[in-house]
Amino acid sequence: MTRVAILLSGGGSNMVKLVESMVGDHPARPVLVVSNDPAAGGLVRAAELGVPTAVVDHRPFHADRAAFETALHGEIIKAGPDLLCLAGFMRILTPGFIDRWAGRMLNIHPSLLPDYRGLHTHARALEAGDSEAGCTVHEVTAELDDGPVLGQARVPICPGDTAKTLSTRVLAAEHRLYPLVLRRFCEGHRDPVSLA
Ligand code: GRF
Repeated sequence: MTRVAILLSGGGSNMVKLVESMVGDHPARPVLVVSNDPAAGGLVRAAELGVPTAVVDHRPFHADRAAFETALHGEIIKAGPDLLCLAGFMRILTPGFIDRWAGRMLNIHPSLLPDYRGLHTHARALEAGDSEAGCTVHEVTAELDDGPVLGQARVPICPGDTAKTLSTRVLAAEHRLYPLVLRRFCEGHRDPVSLA
């Protein structure tokens, strides 16, 4: 059984989909939801789902990312996870933390990587006049929003789309893609999966 810890900073809709998927004959179970933001809505939703939660507030650490990550790592290992899933975790992690979890950390990003690493992906896709958008689940490596792609889901960009309408469509695709990739990853698959 793969023990999964989920890291988030916001509402946690992807976390909910991951947790809801890890039932029955699924090879993984959620053991922790951890946030850098004590006010993250995802913490409440995790507790409602019966998943243990923890908070490591990044703010007291100011610019000392290494000290924040040491505290974060310490909190995570208490739960003994095998795998970390970043799900809207809005802190950049340093190579020191990433190395500790090499090959054992996934992320979801709201673009078709390698396009639009970083923030404001939907606005940038609209500005570029793209005809489609989507999301990517990838292994986390030291480069931001990089690392081997494990799955992508594509959605159309429709006339009149705004960043908000497009983000709603992409988020629905995220909710289908991330549980699928998590399950495949836990079953040992590393070849990328594609959802239309
Ligand atoms: C998602 O769009 C995810 O791709 C991005 O942050 C958002 C998190 O949404 N990294 P939620 O907290 O899972 O609802």
